[in-house]
Amino acid sequence: MKKIVISTGGGDAPGLNAVIYAVVRASFHRGWEVYGSKCGYLGLLDPDELIRLTPQMVEGITSTGGTILGSTNKGNPFAMPIKNLAGDVQIRDVSDRVMKIFNRMGFTCHIAVGGDGSLEIAHRFAVEKGMPVIGVPKTIDNDLQATQLTFGFDTAVSTATEALDKLHSTAKSHDRVMVVEVMGRDSGWIALNSGISGGADIILIPEIPFNLDRICEKINDNELHDKHYAIVVVAEGAKAIGHEVIHQGEGEVGRSEKVLGGIGRWVAQQISKQTGKDSRSLVLGHLQRGGSPTTFDRLLALRFGATAVRLAQAEEFDHMVGLDGIDMISVPLADAIKGRKKVPLDSDKILTANEIGICFGD
Ligand code: F6P
Repeated sequence: MKKIVISTGGGDAPGLNAVIYAVVRASFHRGWEVYGSKCGYLGLLDPDELIRLTPQMVEGITSTGGTILGSTNKGNPFAMPIKNLAGDVQIRDVSDRVMKIFNRMGFTCHIAVGGDGSLEIAHRFAVEKGMPVIGVPKTIDNDLQATQLTFGFDTAVSTATEALDKLHSTAKSHDRVMVVEVMGRDSGWIALNSGISGGADIILIPEIPFNLDRICEKINDNELHDKHYAIVVVAEGAKAIGHEVIHQGEGEVGRSEKVLGGIGRWVAQQISKQTGKDSRSLVLGHLQRGGSPTTFDRLLALRFGATAVRLAQAEEFDHMVGLDGIDMISVPLADAIKGRKKVPLDSDKILTANEIGICFGD
């Protein structure tokens, strides 16, 4: 008999509820108990925030977005922002308290569903505190190593592609340049996949610092070929050669990452200045994280959840489930968090984009 606690950490991604569903069902079928920890590790800091998850409680959640457990990207128990009586926020290590509650509750496994930040914390718990942990790779950014794909990515790409499809008609009606900023942090996966699929003329990704002159040449070249509008997709982490990534500051206390954003507007302004064409920018932002998971993400998330339970049974801890081709695999958590997975410049997608006339600003 095992007693599992599952948590969802970091930015949400479509498919989280499908993972929870699969973990609950696959555990129930083995006669195990599952608890959900609210908002990342909150339930492991305060047992009132732990919920017993039964098959009845997860009925119908597979197709829903978000996470029934809640999530946070400022809940690292090794560096937790805590308000003192005077109202000042102090950063404290509360990891021992997490272990105390984990052991007191009699948990035998923690299934941590998260991106690189959450999985790094899970790995620290495994290595430094001996917590039996299994990771499940979640992020719309698709930037985790050791798995071909993360769930949430396909939905984000579909949302971005649909937006691009819609922008063609308005851009064309007004002979405008539309610059669309998409998420992805330091990786260009969302920009690349949606840009190719959504008929972009220009795709700017963090892996290829861009030259504005090349972008304007492409727009002018379009004009010569009687195409008077252009669609530009820019990843939030992209930057012009010799410039820094544009960001909106540190964000809330306890976050480990800056809040990115602003590059789309800047690119649109520069294009207007250099080409004289009307340019508009829009930021797709959290729309990419919202809504129901696509069928692909749902299935991937369900498979990840069920595989995580199989790993729990085999006691293969400090490992993460992953996708390799059509197979589910198990990889050491340490391999998954070894730097972010970037778009390889020799990938077929870059080649395809070049061959169908998409410019990367290089
Ligand atoms: O990592 C997922 C992600 O959506 C990034 O693409 C984006 O930069 C970030 O999270 C946004 O975080 P927040 O929801 O805290 O604004």
